[in-house]
Amino acid sequence: MGRPRVVFVDDPDELGRVGADLAVETITRDPASWVVVATGRTPMGLYAELASRRRAGLIHTDQITAVQLDEYLGLGAGDRRSLLGWMRRSFLEPLEIPDDRVMTLPLDGDLVRGCSAFDEAIEDRGGLDLAILGLGENGHLGFNEPPSDDEARTRKVQLSPVTIEANARYWGAASDVPSEAVTVGLHSLLAARRIVLVVSGEAKHEIVREVVDGPVGPAVPASYLQEAEGDVTVVVDRAAWGSDRVPRAT
Ligand code: PGA
Repeated sequence: MGRPRVVFVDDPDELGRVGADLAVETITRDPASWVVVATGRTPMGLYAELASRRRAGLIHTDQITAVQLDEYLGLGAGDRRSLLGWMRRSFLEPLEIPDDRVMTLPLDGDLVRGCSAFDEAIEDRGGLDLAILGLGENGHLGFNEPPSDDEARTRKVQLSPVTIEANARYWGAASDVPSEAVTVGLHSLLAARRIVLVVSGEAKHEIVREVVDGPVGPAVPASYLQEAEGDVTVVVDRAAWGSDRVPRAT
């Protein structure tokens, strides 16, 4: 346990390369890694970088299992807002990961039972190897909205107004964003052997500093990264951090 390592980068391009270096290291060491894959704008460069390294033969993704991080509830088949659809276009297809190596969240039936089976499957397998995560403006990881603590399990959640507003840019208006979702819980995420949190842009300036240096607690769910057992790296660009760099930066 220790403070997350903070890696400062200039811009989203470098963020993608540095994030990909960390992911490649894990996948090379353990080709059958279970990898949690966030959607959102920030990790897109990282995924494009992985795809280009794969095309160049620098990594092999033919044994990894991709684990869905979160999904809206109440969408019909083929709805453009589906986060699985986004994950497919940005990660699964470019890396040629077939459906039988994708662990998707339960979206219907008994969600309580489905979600606990999801957590059990991760636990039975020995936990997650890698979690590639983005940061919400309210400090969420996945859809673990504040308040969420480090014991939070995979579950159905109500999205906060801040998240709905932030995601409106992807789907049109705030009224287009579903209000309910399912998310992998902090408990499973924080136990991942490696966590890469990618943070970009001015809108994340205050929250990323709270995550790294602020008090740990449910008001800022990502602050629990400070107490995670695994290898945690926050890759943050200049627009998010600001121009002053702290001495303990690596
Ligand atoms: P973003 O989303 O990468 O699109 O900013 C991050 C998040 O809300 O988790």
